[in-house]
This record gives sequence, C-alpha cells and structure tokens, in this order.
Amino acid sequence: MITQQIATKLQHKPPVFTVPTLPPQISAEQKKTLIDQIHILLKQKNAKIIAHYYTDSDIQDLAEATGGIVADSLVMAEFGQKCDADILIVAGVKFMAETAKILSPNKKVIVPTLDATCSLDLGCPIEEFSAFCDAHPDRTVVVYANTSAAVKARADWVVTSSCAIDIVRHLDEQGEKLIWAPDRFLGDYIQKATDADMLSWYGSCIVHDEFKAEGIQQLKALYPDAAVLVHPESPASVIALADSVGSTSQLIRAAEQLKNEIFIVATEVGIFHKMREAAPNKQFIQAPTRGAGATCQSCARCPWMKQNTLLNLLKCLEEEGPEIIVQEDVRIKAMIPLERMLNFTRA
Ligand code: 13P
Ligand code: SF4
Repeated sequence: MITQQIATKLQHKPPVFTVPTLPPQISAEQKKTLIDQIHILLKQKNAKIIAHYYTDSDIQDLAEATGGIVADSLVMAEFGQKCDADILIVAGVKFMAETAKILSPNKKVIVPTLDATCSLDLGCPIEEFSAFCDAHPDRTVVVYANTSAAVKARADWVVTSSCAIDIVRHLDEQGEKLIWAPDRFLGDYIQKATDADMLSWYGSCIVHDEFKAEGIQQLKALYPDAAVLVHPESPASVIALADSVGSTSQLIRAAEQLKNEIFIVATEVGIFHKMREAAPNKQFIQAPTRGAGATCQSCARCPWMKQNTLLNLLKCLEEEGPEIIVQEDVRIKAMIPLERMLNFTRA
C-alpha cells in the first residue's frame, strides 16, 4: 500500500487571505422587487444564471425558475457549454466562472462580485505550484477544479469531487505517478480509495476543515439512526464517520435515496435548501464545527459563496460586469485538462 506523500519539504508560505463578512439581510419586499427586475433583464439579455448549491436559496430558486441551473461544480461547467445563452452569470466563486469562460469563450461570463473566491484557489499560487511540478517532471499533474485558470493550464487533468476517484483510478491503472493539488483532505481520501502514488499539495477548504469528528460522534449518540453525509474536503477523521461521501449533488442524492430519516450533514449549509426539497419529510442537522481547537472562521458558511446577493446579481446584469476574462494562451492550455475531464465523465 502506497501512502500519500505530503509535499512538506516545499514549505509553502501559509496563504494570507482575509475572509469577507456576510452581506446584510434584506426585507421580503426588497427581495421581490429585485427578483422581478432580474427576471426581466435575464429575458431581455438572453442571460442564464449558473448557481452553486452553496449560494442563498433565493439565488438557487431564481436560477432554476429562469432556465438556468443550480448544480455541483462539474455540472455547472457542462451547463455553460451546452446552453444557448449569450451571457452566463456564474453565482458561485471565481474558479467556477473562469471554468465557464474557458469552456465557452464566445459567451460573456459575468459574476455578481469578484470578491467571491475560495481558500483552495488562494492557497495554490501559480508560481509556487509550477515550481512544484517542475521539481517532479515524471509525475502527471492532476488538479481539483477549485484552482485558478493558470493552475489548470499547468495541469494534465482537472477533476471535481464527483469524478476524482474514477479519474485517479484510471491514471493509476495506466501506471502513472501523480501530483495532486490543492486539497490535502480530498487528496488523502482519493489516495486511500485508489492506492495511487500521489504527491500532494497542502491546501484546505476553510469551511470543511472545521467539521469535528468528536462533535459528530456526540450527535450520533443522540441520534443513533441518523446517517452522516460528508463532502470529501473534510478531514479524514470526519470522512471515517460517513455513511456517504461525495460531491454536493451526490450528497443530495444520498439524502433522497438512503432510508434514514435523520441526516447529519458535513458540508456548507446552502445545500440544506436542495436537500429539504429532495426529501421534504426528512430531518437535516448541521455537523458541528465547534469543539476542541475550534476557531470557526466560517461555521459551515462559505464566506465567499455568500458574497453573491440578489442586489449584486441585478447590478451585474444591468452593467454586464464584472466580466471574467481569461488570457487566451492560458485559456487554450487550461481547456485541455478540462476537456479531458468532461470527455472522461461522458464516456
Ligand atoms: P462540488 O463539486 O461538490 O459542488 O464542490 C465544490 C466546492 O467548492 C465544495 O466546497
Ligand atoms: Fe472553496 Fe470551501 Fe468555499 Fe467550496 S466551500 S468554494 S472549497 S472555500
């Protein structure tokens, strides 16, 4: 059994980023006015919203009601390519919008705010990552979708959590040794599932990093029949307690299909909206982020996803910006590993 190697010798500087505060709430009346205005502009401009499950429920509902989509990061990437809109509004985080632009260069891709990013993307700067790859030229470079366009351009494969195990298993069967970046927990999970030879970057998601195994065990003692659903960006001790591990859409499916009536959910709270819709008679409990050693920067709320609001969504439609631009040479290189992933998942 090969154990995952962690690139500790690299001595990455710890990523420095400020976590934005949550935007203020608005009244029901204000919401209705904004939603009505957005409906009109989406139609006028032939625009569609591509939203992630972690955005606010109003944005998720609006995306679906207007012919857009709410999905996991793999399906978000595919949808932009397939739909016939002139403008794609990506209500998620920056890497999702960049992916949409890379795959749909002829569409205008805009975002409600450029402040929505991701600790995994921030924790894997291209210069250091490129040096890491250069130091291991014999390894195939596999990166998580939660990375910048430049990092994708340096990779051989891109994966999301819904297809990572299948792709890494396939590469391992070809005898390839891998570099993996940036999420160390997801990397560890994939390595255990595939036994692949992986040299891993040392990044993490500030949201999933905070779930506590001890807290989940305490909840399990209170609700012994509950099933535990875990996103694989969580620590290994949390994944070890899971009845189902998977991407956001895989976890929603598990909530629907498993016979249990109570679920302890270790992923971002935005997902509860779709889980309750998919299984209205079941009970969903947030996995604890508090406990020994807890700092709770996020408390299961992605501070960047939550920067998407109805207010800035309307403004971005009115102004058709901020627009996502990916330099053409970077785009062409980044498209190769992204297309590899999409072709693999379609096969
Ligand atoms: P999914 O691909 O499972 O939607 O995950 C994206 C993400 O950012 C999870 O934190
Ligand atoms: Fe990034 Fe974590 Fe937010 Fe997902 S939940 S976008 S991985 S910071």
